[in-house]
Amino acid sequence: MNKYEKLKQQINPDRLPRHIAVIMDGNGRWANKRGANRLFGHKNGAEAVRACIEASVEIGIKYLTVYAFSTENWSRPEDEVKGLLKLILDSLIREIDELSQNNIIVRFIGTTTNLPPDYRMKVDAECQKTWNNTGLNLNIAMNYGGRVELLDAMKSMIPDILNGKITTNNLDEMMFEKYLYTASMPDPDLMIRTSGEKRLSNYLIWQSAYTELYFTEILWPDFKKVAFLEAIIDFQSRNRKFGGV
Ligand code: FPP
Repeated sequence: MNKYEKLKQQINPDRLPRHIAVIMDGNGRWANKRGANRLFGHKNGAEAVRACIEASVEIGIKYLTVYAFSTENWSRPEDEVKGLLKLILDSLIREIDELSQNNIIVRFIGTTTNLPPDYRMKVDAECQKTWNNTGLNLNIAMNYGGRVELLDAMKSMIPDILNGKITTNNLDEMMFEKYLYTASMPDPDLMIRTSGEKRLSNYLIWQSAYTELYFTEILWPDFKKVAFLEAIIDFQSRNRKFGGV
């Protein structure tokens, strides 16, 4: 039995994280170590995404949300930004049939500001092919920022405030969450960040209020199925209190 199969047996199926969020960090350093350009790192990073999706399907994770491009990533050199946008769309188009055959529902979450006008249309056309599926929910955070998400939520609430649906008396956390990109999804139970950095970087900042954080030195392109299961096993050893005792 290989290491992955052994780890799979260690996983407690009754305590699986329902939702895993991932900050895929370290592509640039991984490429740099090999004397290659940063896009080479991102391309290999896309393979690690595939590995984590496969493992998620195999063990029965319901939600996986990966941080593909942040609202802050526009400040990177133009060729890297262009390359990343293209890599993400090309990967989606190439993989969508296989994702769908595996019963995966694919969604992009993020804001549309700054994206080329036809980008989101192309993305939606691909994602829609999977929306009748019932297995893993794969969220790709694209042009995503937690603060912008909160502002977008507030903006989309305004009509409901004006028509009286939302009042100071009935506005609570549950109602507010209906306006987030993640409406009707459970909050992440586990957030993984690779490459040794220990920050949330504006990722799912509302949703991660009680999320267990897992940091590893592994650079993202090397984060494959074994590393993914190790993170879940670590999560299962934790005692979650949600502010209680
Ligand atoms: C962070 O590493 C990584 C990103 C900003 C991009 C992540 C994107 C992918 C893995 C592409 C594939 C995604 C999908 C969904 C197909 P970094 O560039 O900040 O690395 P560094 O800190 O070492 O420079």
